[in-house]
Amino acid sequence: MAPTPELSKDVKLKEVSGILLQAATADSWSKIQTFEAKPDDLLICTYPKSGTTWIQEIVDMIEQNGDVEKCQRAIIQHRHPFIEWARPPQPSGVEKANTMTAPRILRTHLPTQLLPPSFWEKNCKFLYVARNAKDCMVSYYHFQRMSQVLPDPGTWEEYFETFINGKVSWGSWFDHVKGWWKIRDKHQILFIFYEDIKRDPKHEIQKVMQFMGKNLDEAVLDKIVQETSFEKMKENPMTNRSTVPKSVMDQSISPFMRKGTVGDWKNHFTVAQNERFDEIYREKMKGTSIRFSMEL
Ligand code: A3P
Repeated sequence: MAPTPELSKDVKLKEVSGILLQAATADSWSKIQTFEAKPDDLLICTYPKSGTTWIQEIVDMIEQNGDVEKCQRAIIQHRHPFIEWARPPQPSGVEKANTMTAPRILRTHLPTQLLPPSFWEKNCKFLYVARNAKDCMVSYYHFQRMSQVLPDPGTWEEYFETFINGKVSWGSWFDHVKGWWKIRDKHQILFIFYEDIKRDPKHEIQKVMQFMGKNLDEAVLDKIVQETSFEKMKENPMTNRSTVPKSVMDQSISPFMRKGTVGDWKNHFTVAQNERFDEIYREKMKGTSIRFSMEL
């Protein structure tokens, strides 16, 4: 693994109800909490680094009936407003969403307990993508190395502790995934897995399509599978974050579209770390029926 270069960033997160968030998000909290959802909103929900960009592109391709050009209309970050995003003086995620006409597709990394209540009150649709904890941690580590708006992750060993203790932006992976999994049958939630999209993209894309109330033919589905492959999205300037300034994401440190694989954790975890992680995982996930397929 390449050594982490010295970063001159001094980024502090702020707690909101015990969850660490970016400071500007925490400072705008009352505006975020009073966000008015609409009944036909679809909210894409993920823990960071779980394939948010991937599912966004899939959802947009479905929404646009497989029309690639329409999906090129804007960079992916602008197509689906990020509800808790705040970086004054730029328009916030809430402000962007408020200018959109229905039906809206929005996104969030918030855990269930921090979601603006109107999403529940309006009985919106939620599409949750979960990724196995170990790959998520690896991806988040590399992302924090290159992101200039998140804290420096320190060494891999230090980050291991930070991550298992949930001291990262948007809080604990364990609580986030458990929280959404627990309520999946009580609301309109489609809960899917990164690993399943990798293994059988067409099958999972079909599930998403049905959930969105769309009906596309086989040829369009095949096209969506091709257009949303890692290789295509890595080359696509509308999805690969190449337009984001280096002062926000320094992709010379680690690319945003990094590997896109299942099991990269094996290249990072020591045997001892893996044993410890498994023990913590068993303890924290006790009593939940959620199962990740770690191997393809
Ligand atoms: P890696 O760092 O493991 O490569 P998010 O969009 O939630 O920030 O997630 C980013 C992760 O999803 C990165 O993981 C990225 O490479 C991966 N990803 C993005 N598009 C993908 C695709 N089309 N297929 C597989 N993985 C993808």
